[in-house]
Amino acid sequence: MILSNNIVLIGFMGSGKTSVGRFLSERLAYSFKDTDQLIEAQQAMTIQKIFSIHGEEYFRNLETELLLSLKGSLDKVVLSTGGGMPIRDENVKLLNMMGPVIYLQASSNTIISRVSGDGKRPLLEGDDLQVKVEKLLLSRQAIYERSASSIINTDNKSIEEIGNEILDYCKLG
Ligand code: S3P
Repeated sequence: MILSNNIVLIGFMGSGKTSVGRFLSERLAYSFKDTDQLIEAQQAMTIQKIFSIHGEEYFRNLETELLLSLKGSLDKVVLSTGGGMPIRDENVKLLNMMGPVIYLQASSNTIISRVSGDGKRPLLEGDDLQVKVEKLLLSRQAIYERSASSIINTDNKSIEEIGNEILDYCKLG
């Protein structure tokens, strides 16, 4: 296990990274940072706008640049990441340097129930949410698994239960 003052959360859209991250940061008196929120603040634009004006590749570059700018500067931070962050190996290396990387795993049904109708996720826009989620999840599952130092299943669990499992794993409970 990595000895570090930070916790990094990865996982698919709707896996609970933000809610669990906030819970952990409150319990540990750590700061909470969310890569999507940091990018939106830097660009003064929502994620949807960044995707629609500049496209996905541009957003992926912003994600990598953000991690490079955070590298070495985080102390007592819970970092929640956008669902596509581990797509790039370079990002995975950077995340693992920051702290234990926890994969919040969720089934497609759980994800669909959490994201449907929120209109905030450009990759899930349009019809047939179920097909989109299942396809993207299938293509990413192995990436999440190999990127993480621990996998926590979140189906049918409360934020508190998930948070406490992470605290136990990090020996911070
Ligand atoms: C994305 C996930 C989103 C956001 C963007 C792309 C993805 O973050 O970064 O819409 O590729 O899975 P959340 O996982 O916080 O929804």
